Amino acid sequence: MNQEILFIQREELKTKPDTSSLGFGKYFSDYMFVMDFHSETGWYNPRITPYEPLTLDPAAMVFHYGQAIFEGMKAYKGADGTIQLFRPEKNMKRFNQSCDRLCIPQIDEEFLLRAIKQLVFTEKDWIPDGDGTSLYIRPFIFSTEAYLGVRPAKEYKLLVILSPSGAYYGSQLSPVKIYVEEQYVRASIGGVGHVKTAGNYAASLKAQEKADANGFAQILWLDAKENKYVEEVGSMNIFFKINGEVVTPRLNGSILPGVTRDSVIQLLNYWKIPVREEKISIEEVYAAHERGELEEVFGAGTAAVISPVGELHWNDHAIVINDYKIGQLSQDLYDEMTGIQLGNKEDPFNWVVKVAQVEV
Ligand code: COI
Repeated sequence: MNQEILFIQREELKTKPDTSSLGFGKYFSDYMFVMDFHSETGWYNPRITPYEPLTLDPAAMVFHYGQAIFEGMKAYKGADGTIQLFRPEKNMKRFNQSCDRLCIPQIDEEFLLRAIKQLVFTEKDWIPDGDGTSLYIRPFIFSTEAYLGVRPAKEYKLLVILSPSGAYYGSQLSPVKIYVEEQYVRASIGGVGHVKTAGNYAASLKAQEKADANGFAQILWLDAKENKYVEEVGSMNIFFKINGEVVTPRLNGSILPGVTRDSVIQLLNYWKIPVREEKISIEEVYAAHERGELEEVFGAGTAAVISPVGELHWNDHAIVINDYKIGQLSQDLYDEMTGIQLGNKEDPFNWVVKVAQVEV
């Protein structure tokens, strides 16, 4: 795809929020990227336009049959003014995998990455530079065709919006309390749990609501068939450090293949810390705790970065991990990941993609 990206200027720029009040996903920048699809033309009319509400037909198929997918990425501004992305080609690839599973037409990964870079550069003043902050990038696609028959739509919209954000869980690296869900399931093998579709998150809300009401930050999901094996948290993948070795559930077809998950595994290998991707039951986790071998539990995700888990609650039984303190490995991984992302640490894997250098 070799189309020009049109730029439509807005009349007035918004007031930017104070870095200390960012939170996650509350504020949106001045511009967004938009592109349309029609089965007769393919993707067309790529443009960077003022961020504004959309007008959609009430019969737009997304409202009825839920063809909606998204990605989550971040842009960082280093101390020397370098604007960089972290492994963005992985997100582009996963976006197309989500397209495939939801019968949404494929996108040109290189073109979309170019558009994202252009949008981020346009919005460079929106990249916060406070500790633990970044510009969260949310690409998404949904069906727009007005039709009520059940089949893949013939028309779609792809948008990219930007949100200056801080920590996902309120405060960076503070250990979270997690409820291991037994009644509801997130995804099953053969379903859509391995891709980033809106319905996965809708399906998680009922359990999340129950967890919130009881003071838990998140849900840890178990497998749908036996209600026994650990899967993921929903906003992040999960890792257990047991007796010096790290274990994370292997990708079984219902777990999201996180970019941060993959980066953590590569870093652990690089540091020669044993790491295994395998089926792990919640009983094994509790047994390791009983033996005094469960040293750390942490989540890994784009929004959450590295998030230590301080407490798990399963089957009416709560266990406290590492005295509710940040484990050394969680801290090291957080420092290394954010150091690479901000350009303060060496990038031995060439993960970082530079967008531009701006004056600071
Ligand atoms: C991300 O980490 O980017 C995600 O998409 C998780 C989210 C639902 C906030």
